Amino acid sequence: MKNTKKPSLLFILLVVMIFVAFLTMSIEGRKNHHKKSRAHKHKKRGGGNGNNAPGPEHSPSTAPAPAPSHGYYPISSSVFNVLSFGAKGDGVVDDSKALQAAWKAACMVGSATLKIPSNFKFLISPITLQGPCMPKLVLQIDGTLLASPKVASWQRSSLFQWLNFKWIQNFTIQGTGTIDGQGSAWWNLSQVLYIQKRSKQIPGMKPTALRFYESYNVTVRDIKIINSPLCHLKFDDSGSINIDNITISSPADSPNTDGIHFQNTKDVEIQHSNIGCGDDCVSIQTGCSNIHVHHISCGPGHGISLGSLGKDRTVACVKDIVVENIIMQDTLYGARIKTWQGGIGSVKNVSFSNIQVSNVKVPIMIDQFYCDKRKCKNQTDAVAIYGVKYNQIIGTYSAQPIHLACSNSVPCKKVDLIDIQLSPLSKSGGFHQALCLNTYGKSFAPLVPSSIDYCLKKGGTSYNSLTKSHKYTC
Ligand SMILES: *[C@@H]1O[C@H](CO)[C@@H](O)[C@H](O)[C@H]1NC(C)=O
Ligand SMILES: *[C@@H]1O[C@H](CO)[C@@H](O)[C@H](O)[C@H]1NC(C)=O
Ligand SMILES: *[C@@H]1O[C@H](CO)[C@@H](O)[C@H](O)[C@H]1NC(C)=O
Ligand SMILES: *[C@@H]1O[C@H](CO)[C@@H](O)[C@H](O)[C@H]1NC(C)=O
Ligand SMILES: *[C@@H]1O[C@H](CO)[C@@H](O)[C@H](O)[C@H]1NC(C)=O
Ligand SMILES: *[C@@H]1O[C@H](CO)[C@@H](O)[C@H](O)[C@H]1NC(C)=O
Repeated sequence: MKNTKKPSLLFILLVVMIFVAFLTMSIEGRKNHHKKSRAHKHKKRGGGNGNNAPGPEHSPSTAPAPAPSHGYYPISSSVFNVLSFGAKGDGVVDDSKALQAAWKAACMVGSATLKIPSNFKFLISPITLQGPCMPKLVLQIDGTLLASPKVASWQRSSLFQWLNFKWIQNFTIQGTGTIDGQGSAWWNLSQVLYIQKRSKQIPGMKPTALRFYESYNVTVRDIKIINSPLCHLKFDDSGSINIDNITISSPADSPNTDGIHFQNTKDVEIQHSNIGCGDDCVSIQTGCSNIHVHHISCGPGHGISLGSLGKDRTVACVKDIVVENIIMQDTLYGARIKTWQGGIGSVKNVSFSNIQVSNVKVPIMIDQFYCDKRKCKNQTDAVAIYGVKYNQIIGTYSAQPIHLACSNSVPCKKVDLIDIQLSPLSKSGGFHQALCLNTYGKSFAPLVPSSIDYCLKKGGTSYNSLTKSHKYTC
């Protein structure tokens, strides 16, 4: 019996030891697991509440839920007022940091509104407001955004533009407010050259007021943009742009202050807006297509222009442009296409119609010899111009009714003149005759002055007669 009892006792002891060891391990394991899961939970909460920025102005009745860590936020309507982010709005203190913080907060929320309230003026340094943001962000400008009026305060790196919107989609700027570039100091060339030399800035470089870069489905409506140092509103490498009911204003003698400028931008509608400035009201540059400009009043300014294109022997491609229902008053040009000698590429399928002009120096102009210096070298290459219709251009001119100057080597083709009625502003004389150089197309009555009727060369309508390089570059 003893023999049998001893091993069994040992066995029981062994079993108990193993059991105790197992139990200890198991408890340790559970503790660890518990710790881990708590840490995990904590991290999750922290992620959403990480920023200390003020919340939406009109919070829903329950406190806003923290944003989940994966970044998706359920679509809700939230207003972010720049004043809640520390902006003073006195026009003296620099409010750029507050605007940037408000932008970042609004950008993370779907359908958010970033509010620039009325009756306040916000001094803003050059700033980039960058996406991608959640869809349907609205910048509601009811107050005033002011640029610094001092040329010397602009840094070398910020000379391209003042307000830079980059990589945003499904975005709207609207409101009754004003974007004021306070550019008058920039318009005095001698003063700017002096200051730029002293502060080692790039000579001749001036900032655009409002610029969009690589942005899609953008609406700009109702606001005013005034007194830019250079161009007022510019789109680069963008698409699906809608501009409605805006006002752009700067003095007639403010140099190079284009109204709206497009480059490499497609699918644009500009409508029901008032543009008066010191350069082109609308300027359409290379890489643009499907642009519809209508119900615009332009003046003072240099008219609505395609170009200048092909500078420094570059390739230029512009097509499918419609400009209609325009009032031009006291402008230098009306409907204009300007290209430099030596460029290549083409301008195709352009229509200017129902343009009322009054006191416009040259209402209809194509210039393949564009040159902003005194003299440019004659070159054989030219940006080809094919398919331009002028229809119902009616009113008064002060220098020349029509000026179509096309090159010998690459003549303009299919330029049609339909219902052109242009009379000199006064009977005092000194006006130039209609000019058509190397321009092929058809004309249809009524045509006033009647010299327009035999201005164009007949024939030459074949697109195939364009040189190969022009047909296949674009
Ligand atoms: C923009 O809006 C359209 C239609 O509402 C949607 O299909 C698209 O995904 C949106 N794009 C972005 C980047 O939010
Ligand atoms: C563009 O944005 C607007 C408003 O943000 C939206 O309603 C519309 O569906 C968008 N369209 C496209 C094609 O993205
Ligand atoms: C331009 O600035 C210079 C130097 O400050 C000044 O003397 C001149 O009167 C200014 N010209 C105009 C047109 O304002
Ligand atoms: C045009 O914008 C102004 C604000 O600048 C606004 O008062 C007016 O109602 C807008 N008109 C339309 C037709 O939206
Ligand atoms: C000319 O441009 C208009 C406007 O973009 C477009 O509707 C039309 O289809 C174009 N015509 C040709 C022949 O490409
Ligand atoms: C350049 O071409 C224009 C138009 O053909 C001509 O009037 C002018 O004399 C030429 N200039 C030179 C420097 O060859």
